[in-house]
Amino acid sequence: MKTTAEIWETHKFEPFTPSIPIPPKGLYGGTSTEPQASQGMAQWIDTLDTYGEGMSILDYGCGAGIFFNFLSARLKNFTYKGVEPNTKFGQNRIALAKKSFGHDSRAEFGFIEKDLKKWLHEVDSVVAISVYTHLEPAASIASIDNVMTQGNNIEFTFSIFNRKVSHVVSSQPAYGPGYHGMSYWTIEWVENYSNSKGFTLTHESDFKAAGGHIHNIFKLTAL
Ligand SMILES: C[S@@+](CC[C@H](N)C(=O)[O-])C[C@H]1O[C@@H](n2cnc3c(N)ncnc32)[C@H](O)[C@@H]1O
Repeated sequence: MKTTAEIWETHKFEPFTPSIPIPPKGLYGGTSTEPQASQGMAQWIDTLDTYGEGMSILDYGCGAGIFFNFLSARLKNFTYKGVEPNTKFGQNRIALAKKSFGHDSRAEFGFIEKDLKKWLHEVDSVVAISVYTHLEPAASIASIDNVMTQGNNIEFTFSIFNRKVSHVVSSQPAYGPGYHGMSYWTIEWVENYSNSKGFTLTHESDFKAAGGHIHNIFKLTAL
């Protein structure tokens, strides 16, 4: 497993201009500053076999689209689809993403309920960045299943907080019902899900996010 520093050595360069040079305040969510925000993002692209010019990717739970901005600083030609749940919070995030990146023809933003199925068949890989660290395991597994059973040879990278607990330890709902400031759950839950479906599960890397919490990054592949 590579360290954050090693991964950053490979992905820190910015040969092209990002879609927006200085992200507006609030766009980076919990990880608010550079280079910490981009170091976190680099951990995800390092998992992608499909990473490079011409790639296509779906950002599941894309928030305000900061992963798009990160990719736009490193690749010239790529296709990006960002989706959010059609909740009040999700609508707000998609509106902000469109305001920030709507001018860039490489990006499209939409909603899980309306756009996921169609877009899953148009991309090579899916990332869910800092999504399941906020949802309870049952909701997370349902959300992962939504991608894995509708996609087609999809590489799906996501992170969880793993504290080897046998039950969910979560703070109070932060952003909406069932959507917590943080949600800890076990690697065994992901393994059981993956085994039951016959998927391949790999533990790709770990990184420290804002507040010092360790995120474990996994990849699920359906072949
Ligand atoms: C902490 S934010 C991370 C946003 C973005 N990925 C980033 O790194 O900036 C978590 C996002 O997950 C979305 N979300 C909540 N429930 C979801 C679900 N069941 N499936 C996918 N995304 C979900 C939220 O609306 C929110 O925008």
